[in-house]
Amino acid sequence: MERCGIVLAGGTGSRLYPVTIALSKQLLPIHDKPMIYYPLSILMLANIREILLISTPQDITLFERLLGDGSQFGLSISYAVQPQPRGLAEAYKIGEKFVNGRPSCLVLGDNLLYGHSLSAILSRAAQKKHGATIFGYHVSNPSAYGVVEFDRSMKVLSIEEKPLKPKSSYAVPGIYFYDGRASFFANQLKPSARGELEITDLNKKYLEEGSLEVVLLGRGIAWLDTGTHDLLYDASLFVKTIEQRQGLKIGCLEEIAFHKGWIGKEELLSQIKKMGNSSYGVYLSHLLETSRSWV
Ligand code: G1P
Repeated sequence: MERCGIVLAGGTGSRLYPVTIALSKQLLPIHDKPMIYYPLSILMLANIREILLISTPQDITLFERLLGDGSQFGLSISYAVQPQPRGLAEAYKIGEKFVNGRPSCLVLGDNLLYGHSLSAILSRAAQKKHGATIFGYHVSNPSAYGVVEFDRSMKVLSIEEKPLKPKSSYAVPGIYFYDGRASFFANQLKPSARGELEITDLNKKYLEEGSLEVVLLGRGIAWLDTGTHDLLYDASLFVKTIEQRQGLKIGCLEEIAFHKGWIGKEELLSQIKKMGNSSYGVYLSHLLETSRSWV
């Protein structure tokens, strides 16, 4: 069964007020494109084309206006609403019919991952048939995240949500690969003290049966947070710096789709027309002209 994807773009974004009072956090720009492009690119790099986007009742139409049915990126995107911010694992209750027992990948709409070996790491995780794969990334502030503890053989010993005394420096980024049982497990979860269905508790279900794998993302990979004004600015600057230096874009959905053969020159041309004379549009034009090889 083909693996499907869920992008969760909910929450109140209160740490970014007043910026996010009227607009969803995941629609804010990270340099030259909306934040949501980056997690979408992650799913595409994992060869996932059927995607459910979940957002708040007030924001969902904005995402629909931006992304439509996804065909311009060679994707099929459908939409669902999370009425209240009741936790990340609720995505698997809301998306139960969409997932329909298929293996899946959940990615958070505000997570930005970038790095040379990422495609290979994602493809490998996407191919695993049984259990769950999560990632571990060394950070200076693990208490702000889910934290994974593992032994020398990479066996997961524990996973804790925002622990005051973290057992390791490895935070769990917001990208999770599950087998077809994610909704089944999500339906068994009880809300945490903060009233949310925690993704960490879903991961614990897999841990308890011994099928949770943690893959370390090394130094060559950037996992950026976008949760505060400073972090948002830093992420934009990071993308701008790399893109300007290389003349290659990060998270350009048309580029990924074109190189994977999911869209052809016709579709690319119509996107070029739509983007007008923005730097994004100019980049797509150049892509069409050169159809250069992609590294
Ligand atoms: C959520 C998860 C946490 C994870 C983080 C990644 O935290 O609960 O386990 O490490 O996403 O971005 P939140 O963004 O809800 O604070």
